[in-house]
Formats: sequence, structure tokens, C-alpha cells
Amino acid sequence: MGNLHEPVRQISSSVENMCTITVVQKNEILDEILTSRRSNRMFHPEVPPDDMIRGIIRAGLLAPFAAAAIGGTGKEYFRQFFVIKNGSNSMAEASKLVMSKIHRMVESVEEDMNNNPELKKSVDTFAKRLDMITSSGKVPGIGTAPYYIVVAELRGYPSVERQSLAHCLENMWLKATALGLGFQLVSVTSEMSDDKKFCDILGVPLGKYELMGCAVGYAQTPLPPSVRPPVNDVTKWLT
Ligand SMILES: Cc1cc2nc3c(=O)[nH]c(=O)nc-3n(C[C@H](O)[C@H](O)[C@H](O)COP(=O)(O)O)c2cc1C
Repeated sequence: MGNLHEPVRQISSSVENMCTITVVQKNEILDEILTSRRSNRMFHPEVPPDDMIRGIIRAGLLAPFAAAAIGGTGKEYFRQFFVIKNGSNSMAEASKLVMSKIHRMVESVEEDMNNNPELKKSVDTFAKRLDMITSSGKVPGIGTAPYYIVVAELRGYPSVERQSLAHCLENMWLKATALGLGFQLVSVTSEMSDDKKFCDILGVPLGKYELMGCAVGYAQTPLPPSVRPPVNDVTKWLT
């Protein structure tokens, strides 16, 4: 086994001759990024540089994908990114479509609860969140941050594209954290995968891609690191 304190590789090509890191340092940096990754829900209006957004997308591309499920790749790469800037026509249009989807979701949740009162307890928090969104008139993460980024993953067999998207978004989240940016998942985006008008904004064919989204920008206020239970409280070593 190598010396953990020996330099392992240059940390970045832009600082080639200055900066090498050891395994110990690499591990400490990763732990720091993992601990400081938080869901940011209040964004500063300042727009981050395009290169940061490209870096976040590059991190998403580096995430695993379900090679067997998507089979041979077609003309287009199976993972596509759409950067929607605040104040743009696409943002206004996307926001309108998602809000009307949320109104339809409210109706369907109410119908489910009426048909099955047992559901009420488990669905209550979600129903309250939908109500909060409709009464505020704003979809959190869509138009509330400088960027709303939608990721499209080709549907395959078996249908594991949602899992692939989760890996992709987690990579993007960690990269945003490393860059000092705030990040918010916008999971209602997945509800738009079969919405023709939403797919038209992106220019993707209806039914071929699964969607997920996130909001990115500078955090309005820095958040404290994550708090989680001690590893031993949640782990069983089986024999
Ligand atoms: C599948 C999934 C969907 C989520 N959707 C949203 C979302 O739409 N909006 C949001 O603000 N946070 C969303 N979150 C973030 C969680 O609420 C958050 O990760 C959790 O409360 C822990 O907080 P932390 O991320 O700051 O550690 C989602 C997380 C997961 C795993």
C-alpha cells in the first residue's frame, strides 16, 4: 500500500505545478464537501459565471449511467442538460406549465384522499406542501434562483432512468457545493416528463426522456453543515 501522505495527483490542470494532494487531503476535502452539501432554498440574485455552470454539468456527465438499460446509443447522447436562466422566456413558460401541473396534482391528491381516507395521514405533508406552492404562486426553484437546470435521461429497459438521474444530480450537487454555490433539487420536474408543452420547450421528443431538475445560484445565507445520526446507531454488521 502506498504512503497516504504522498502526493497522488495534480488537483487541477490550471495550477499544474503548484498543487498536488495526498490521499489524506483528498479524503478530507471529500468529507468537507459531503458535510457541507445542503438543500439551499433562498438564492441571491447574482448570476454565477457560465464556467461554473459548465463545471456542474461536467460533474453530471461523470456520474454513472445504466449502460445495459439504454443499449446502443442513438444519434443524441442519452443524457442532455438544459440551462434555463431567470428572466428568460423559457423560464416564464416552464414556470407556468409546472404551476398548472401542480394545480392538477392538488386535485388528484384530494381525490385520492377522498377515495381512501387511510391515505390522509401519509399524504398530509405532501398535500400541505402543494397547497403552500399554489398559494405562494411560485414553484420553489423555478424562477427563484438564477438558474433552473433540467436534466433529461433517455428511457430504457429496464426503466432505471430515475436512478441514473439521481446519481447525476448528486454529482452536480457536490460540484456546486465545491464551487461555493447553493443547490436545490426541483423534483416536480419529473412530473413534466410526459408533458408535451414542457418537452417542446426543451426540444426533446415526448415520451423518450425522463426529466429531473435543480436550481443553482449563490446562497442568500450560508447554511450550517448537515446533521446526521452517528454511523453506529444506524449500522448492523451481520455475521
Ligand atoms: C428524491 C428527493 C427529492 C427531493 N425533492 C426536493 C424538492 O423538490 N425541493 C427541495 O427543496 N428539496 C428536495 N429534496 C431535498 C430534501 O428535502 C433534503 O435533501 C433533505 O431535507 C435533507 O436536507 P439537506 O439536503 O440540506 O441535507 C429532495 C430530496 C430527495 C432525495
